[in-house]
Amino acid sequence: MILFPADTLERSEVERDYRLEFEGARAAGFATALFDFDGLRRGEDLDRVLWRVPESLRGEALIYRGWMLAAPDYARLFHGLEARGWKMVNDTKAYRFGHHAPENYAFWQQWMPQTAWTTREEFEHNGFAPIYEVLKAFGSSPVIVKDWVKSQKHRWDEACFIPDASDEDEVRRVVSRFLELQGEYLTGGLVFRRFETLRGDGAGQVFEWRSFWLDGRLLSLTPNLVREDEPDLETVADKARECPSRFFTLDFSQKDTGEWVIIEMGDGGVSGLPSGVNIDGWYRKLAI
Ligand SMILES: Nc1ncnc2c1ncn2[C@@H]1O[C@H](COP(=O)(O)OP(=O)(O)O)[C@@H](O)[C@H]1O
Ligand SMILES: [Mg+2]
Repeated sequence: MILFPADTLERSEVERDYRLEFEGARAAGFATALFDFDGLRRGEDLDRVLWRVPESLRGEALIYRGWMLAAPDYARLFHGLEARGWKMVNDTKAYRFGHHAPENYAFWQQWMPQTAWTTREEFEHNGFAPIYEVLKAFGSSPVIVKDWVKSQKHRWDEACFIPDASDEDEVRRVVSRFLELQGEYLTGGLVFRRFETLRGDGAGQVFEWRSFWLDGRLLSLTPNLVREDEPDLETVADKARECPSRFFTLDFSQKDTGEWVIIEMGDGGVSGLPSGVNIDGWYRKLAI
């Protein structure tokens, strides 16, 4: 079964952004169910949040496809579904692994740009000192900043790209703006990644391929722009089979040197399908 968020207004309908996925899932033979996403986030009673979810008598597998959830909310969803007999393919530990950059960096490190992080608590107690401290590892290289889950990539110069990791004024300017934009939605803390020069269309768009994996098997590999080349995934695929998440994404780009890098890992339930993907075909693959 695939679980989707219900629409906020039309509660018996799937959230509109997931309509095509909902239809694709049904066409591929999946059972589907809806739940009250906002209610879950507000901490409402699970019986209300999940009242449309039927019980599973045989402990069947369930895949969540929907918006990102904070880890504690995911944990409540997991337990609520478990009480109804469903087993989410990713338990909360696996969700955190895929969703939080600091948890998965060591696992994919050989393909990822150098990465360092701080926690929100460190910042709240000690201000910028712990940030300057972790940034020492990058010397005067450029880095990008994000939280443990998301960046402000659409505000690149203002809140994402730091031209020189050793320039404390620049660090403070970009990080302050990033924190201001994230506000209460800041997840975990800050992540810094060494900036790499990546291949793109020359007009400001970097080429990026999103891959989905289920139980170590590649489900899809889709570029953000029309491309004929694609990353060689042979060595990554070996590693993917050992991954502590059953359902996840990896985004790839190519350095100007030709080397492929993993830009980020994501949880398979809450990562968007790329616009170039054939949704019905994707759900048919998922169903195999
Ligand atoms: N290490 C890096 N070097 C160069 N560009 C990067 C790097 N990491 C991310 N980017 C660029 O920034 C964008 C956003 O980063 P990403 O980690 O994917 O954050 P988000 O979770 O917001 O999508 C990427 O799509 C990529 O183009
Ligand atoms: Mg991304």
